[in-house]
Amino acid sequence: MDWPKGVDGLCYGGDYNPEQWPETVWDDDVALMREAGVNLVSVGIFSWARLEPREGEYDFGWLDRVLDKLHEGGIGVNLATPTASPPPWFTLAHPDALNTRPDGVLQVHGSRDTYDVHAPAYREASARIAAELAERYAEHPALAMWHVHNEYGSTSHSAHAERAFRVWLQQKYATLEALNEAWWGSFWSQRYSDWEQILAPRATQYLTNPALELDFKRFTSDALLDHFREQRDLLRQAGPEIPITTNLVFGQWVPVDPWRWAEEVDLVAFDSYPGDADETAERESALHADLSRSWADGKPWLLMEQAAAAVHSPHGAIAKGPGRMARHSMIHISRGSKGAMFFQWRSGRGGAEQWHSALVPHAGKDTRVFREVVEFGAALPGLAETVDAPVEADVAILWSPESWWATGGHASLPAKIDYFENVAQIHRVLRDRGVTVDFVSPEGELGEYSTVIAPTTYVLSRAAAENLRWFTAGGGRLVASYMTGAVDEHCQIWLGGFLGGLTDLFGIRVLEHLPQPAGELRALWNFGAAERFCELVELRGAQCVTQYATGEVIENQPAVTVNPFGEGEAWYVSCKLVDEAWDRLFEALELNGPGQRGVDVVDRGQWRFIINHTDTEARVGHVIVPAGAWAVDKRPE
Ligand code: GAL
Repeated sequence: MDWPKGVDGLCYGGDYNPEQWPETVWDDDVALMREAGVNLVSVGIFSWARLEPREGEYDFGWLDRVLDKLHEGGIGVNLATPTASPPPWFTLAHPDALNTRPDGVLQVHGSRDTYDVHAPAYREASARIAAELAERYAEHPALAMWHVHNEYGSTSHSAHAERAFRVWLQQKYATLEALNEAWWGSFWSQRYSDWEQILAPRATQYLTNPALELDFKRFTSDALLDHFREQRDLLRQAGPEIPITTNLVFGQWVPVDPWRWAEEVDLVAFDSYPGDADETAERESALHADLSRSWADGKPWLLMEQAAAAVHSPHGAIAKGPGRMARHSMIHISRGSKGAMFFQWRSGRGGAEQWHSALVPHAGKDTRVFREVVEFGAALPGLAETVDAPVEADVAILWSPESWWATGGHASLPAKIDYFENVAQIHRVLRDRGVTVDFVSPEGELGEYSTVIAPTTYVLSRAAAENLRWFTAGGGRLVASYMTGAVDEHCQIWLGGFLGGLTDLFGIRVLEHLPQPAGELRALWNFGAAERFCELVELRGAQCVTQYATGEVIENQPAVTVNPFGEGEAWYVSCKLVDEAWDRLFEALELNGPGQRGVDVVDRGQWRFIINHTDTEARVGHVIVPAGAWAVDKRPE
C-alpha cells in the first residue's frame, strides 16, 4: 500500500468543500490547485446533508463530478465520511442521538459535532452513509485515502452513554466489589450495590470522583474508537487497498487516547492550530509534530490541517506574516510529516468559519497568501527524496494522556497542575538546545533512548512504574519532575512517599507537597529557581544535586536529586523549575544538539533540515540560511 495511494512525494493541499460553491467555481479550483502544486484534497467532510438530503435518499451526482474533475486534474482525493455533522432531518427524527451535556442539556443541531456516539440511531446512520460511499467510490481512480469522520472528540453524558459505560465497567472490573475498591467507593457514601446505579459524570452538587471521571474518559475514547473501527472495516471491505485515517485533534478536553488510536489507523493524521502569535506558535507546531510522529511509531503520519494565514478564533486570530506558513509546514515536514495540508482550500463566503484563512483567500489568487502557496508548492517536489528518511532521537519525553485528563479539573488536586505546560516546557527547552526528541507512552518501549524525561506524570500505573524501573536498571537515565507517580491507574495515591512506588529507584521519599504563591520564586543553590510548586524530599540513598535556598519548610532541603540504580540513574526534580533552571540541568546532563533558539535543525539520515525563524541570517555548519527561510542540506554519506 502506498501512502496515500498514487501521491508521489509529499502531500500538499487541504479540505476542499466544493458543495459550498456553484459548479462554475470548480474548474477554476482545479486550475488553481494545479498552479499551486496541490496533489491531495480532503473532500466531503461536512457534506452529509448534501449527500443524503432525506433519510435513505442519496445525491451523489455532484460528488461524482467533483471527483472526476479532480482526477482529470491529476489531484488525489482523501474522501471523507461525513459523520461529524449529521443533517437536520436526522437530528429531528432522533433527538436521543444528540449529545447531552453534563448538566443534562440536550444539544441541538445548528453547529457541528452534535451526535451521541452511543446512540443506536446515530451508529446505524453512520454505518449506512459510510457503506454507501464505500460502495460507490472504492474503485474511483481519484481515491487516494479515506478520511473517516472529523476530529473525534464529542463526549455525551446521555442515558445511552450511561448504559454503555456500565457494560464497559463490567468488562473492566467484573464485580461491583472490585469497582467499589478501585473507585474508593466508601468515600462520601458512593458504594454501588447495583450496576444500574452508576451514572456518567453529570452536574453534581460538589466535587465528583476522580477515578470515575478518568474511567469515563477512557470509556469515551474506546467508544469513539469503536465508531471509527466500524466505518474503517466497512471501507476496507469495499475494495482495493486504500489507506484509512482520521484526523486527530489536540486538547485536554479530547477523550481520545492517541497511543491506542494510532494502532488502528493506517496513517496518523493531525490538525495543528498553535494558539499564540509569538514564538509559542513555532514551539507548539514542533511539539505537535513530534507527538504525531511518536504516536505513529514508525507508521506514516501527516499534518492534515493547519491555517494558511490567520486562524479564525473568537479568542483572537494569529496572523502569519511572509514565510511563516512555509516555515510552519517545514516544521512538520522536517519532523517526518508526509506533507503539509490545510484547512481549507478556498475561504468561505458564509457560515461560522467565514473568516478563516485558506490557500485561496477571499480576495482571490492575486494575493500575497496565494503567491506564497504557489511558491511553497513549487518547492515541495524537490524534497521527495527525503520522505522516507527516519527522524532519529536519543531522548524521549513521556506523554501521558491520562495524566493530562486527570489533572484537567484541578479541584481534587493539591494545587493547579498544568500538565501540558510542563511537557511543553521540557520540549521547548530541549528544542532551544537543538535536541530532537520523541514522545513515548509511560507503558511504551523505552529501550532505544539514553534519556527519558517524565514531566509531572501524575498518573503512573503499576505497569508504567515497572517499565521505568526496567529502563533505569538496564542503563537508562530517567529524569522525573514533581508529582510524577502521585496516583495509580485508579487515581489512588501511591502511599509511603509517592513516586509510583519507585522510592528505591529514586533513592528518596516525597514527604509533603508545598504549593507556592504565584509570582514568588524559590531560589535553588547555583541552579536558577522554582515557582508555584515544591515538595519536601527525604534522601534515602540518593545524592542531593542542589537544595532550595529559601522557602518555609524546604529551605536547605533537597530540590534536585540523583540516584544510581542498576546500570542507570534516576534524577528527580521536586519542583516546577523555571526554563533557565531546566536549561542548566540539561547542560549538566550534556543534552545538546545542532539547533538553537529560533533555528530548528533536524537531522534525518543524509538530510539536514534547517528552519530559520529569526530575523537574522543563521549559520549551521557550512550552511547559511537567510532570515525567515529554510533549507535542506544533503550531507556527505
Ligand atoms: C479544525 C476542523 C476544521 C476547521 C478548523 C478551523 O479543528 O477540523 O473543520 O473547523 O478546525 O481552524
